[in-house]
Amino acid sequence: NVASNLSITVVGASGDLAKKKIFPALFALYYEDCLPENFMVFGYARTQMTDEELRNMISRTLTCRIDKRENCEDKMDQFLKRCFYHAGQYNSEEDFAELDSKMIEKEAGSKSNRLFYLSIPPNIFVDVVRCASVKASSANGWTRVIVEKPFGRDSESSAELTKCLKQYLAEDQIFRIDHYLGKELVENLSVLRFSNLVFEPVWSRNYIRNVQLIFSEDFGTEGRGGYFDKYGIIRDIMQNHLLQILALFAMETPVSLDAEDIRNEKVKVLRSMRPLLLEDVVIGQYKGHSKGSKLYPAYIDDPTVPKDSLTPTFAAAALFIDNARWDGVPFLMKAGKALHTKRAEIRVQFRHVPGNLYKRNFGTDLDKATNELVLRVQPDEAIYLKINNKVPGLGMRLDRSDLNLLYRSRYPKEIPDAYERLLLDAIEGERRLFIRSDELDAAWSLFTPLLKELEQKKIVPELYPYGSRGPVGPHYLAAKHNVRWGDLS
Ligand code: BG6
Repeated sequence: NVASNLSITVVGASGDLAKKKIFPALFALYYEDCLPENFMVFGYARTQMTDEELRNMISRTLTCRIDKRENCEDKMDQFLKRCFYHAGQYNSEEDFAELDSKMIEKEAGSKSNRLFYLSIPPNIFVDVVRCASVKASSANGWTRVIVEKPFGRDSESSAELTKCLKQYLAEDQIFRIDHYLGKELVENLSVLRFSNLVFEPVWSRNYIRNVQLIFSEDFGTEGRGGYFDKYGIIRDIMQNHLLQILALFAMETPVSLDAEDIRNEKVKVLRSMRPLLLEDVVIGQYKGHSKGSKLYPAYIDDPTVPKDSLTPTFAAAALFIDNARWDGVPFLMKAGKALHTKRAEIRVQFRHVPGNLYKRNFGTDLDKATNELVLRVQPDEAIYLKINNKVPGLGMRLDRSDLNLLYRSRYPKEIPDAYERLLLDAIEGERRLFIRSDELDAAWSLFTPLLKELEQKKIVPELYPYGSRGPVGPHYLAAKHNVRWGDLS
């Protein structure tokens, strides 16, 4: 049920996200025949550029799927022919009116739907939405707007942004994107829980000891320091990506798979959580480090970052859900830049086996004998369950082994990028994976008091060397809740 006439405008077309993610995702959708017959892509930005220059720029980042290359070059050419550029100011109604004329001129047929992707800094969201909705919205089809985070810096600024956007758009026209929701393993969370008998019955405080949501990157904020310094890792990763995963992980069974039913449950679980306190969190910032002849810069070496910046590039937090299912279960989050590895995973540590007959086989450390379910979101998607197993032989030795579902062996086809899934959903009007405004409010309520306190009290982050495993603070935080980080054991 893909719309028959579609114009997609990427506002901020010369930016990094557009080049790296949005245009390639659009091409992938085109390549997979997911776009309607009559579709066009418009790049909009302030830079002067011709259509040809835009096409050259886009073509540099397009790739073909590994498994079928045959007609890829042709497909690229056909795709690029449907890409156009319009230079304009972000706050100029006339410029958007010109874009509108250009679109009308090229739109064939009677009905045209329009999708705007705002890949721009948040301070110009409202201007663009105003100009686009007043001058360039569809006269005879739908108009939708995809908005990228940050959605404000705290509860107040987020509410203000929502209020301003709603002057021009209805809630069902706004698609707030959190690209983690488009990742294969995150989408699979619901399938795993709700369509396997073996998981849902143990999905509660009765069996689960703690849940860990871990995000790490092996590079710093290189080139993005200016943006990052205003937000920090808690806003950049925890309040959105990790919290969204947590909500999907912990929500009650929705009435149906309908977007509203799912989002109702997510809001409910977010509202059952305690806002974070200072004592629930540790923060860190990376410092320079040399390894052999290679020098790794400190966060504050970035010329766009103030030398005395206290912005955290690393944080760990303990969250709690005050409801019957999760009472007392720590949900630990850890997110950091410039660490030793790039990884995102969900780790579920189960309780000890009561009266375990094989207790003596584990020595004194019974924690090492508990089951652990790991969902590796990236890289190298996998789901594995750590179980205790008898080592074959005449003796009785136990071994912790994995039941392992490795995606690349089981599903050799390349996994689509999260942006492909989400763009397709927005085109099809599927809102399940987009953030509703009440969800956003609930998410900010959890983090706003903490963020304010960190800033007011000028809490100094613990320094950790670029490329290391991060500061030691998270170990103490975890130990306070009787938890050991699964990724370090
Ligand atoms: C973005 C953050 O939302 O997610 C970036 O702003 C981060 O700082 C990125 O690098 C990580 O996304 P992915 O898909 O590469 O894990």
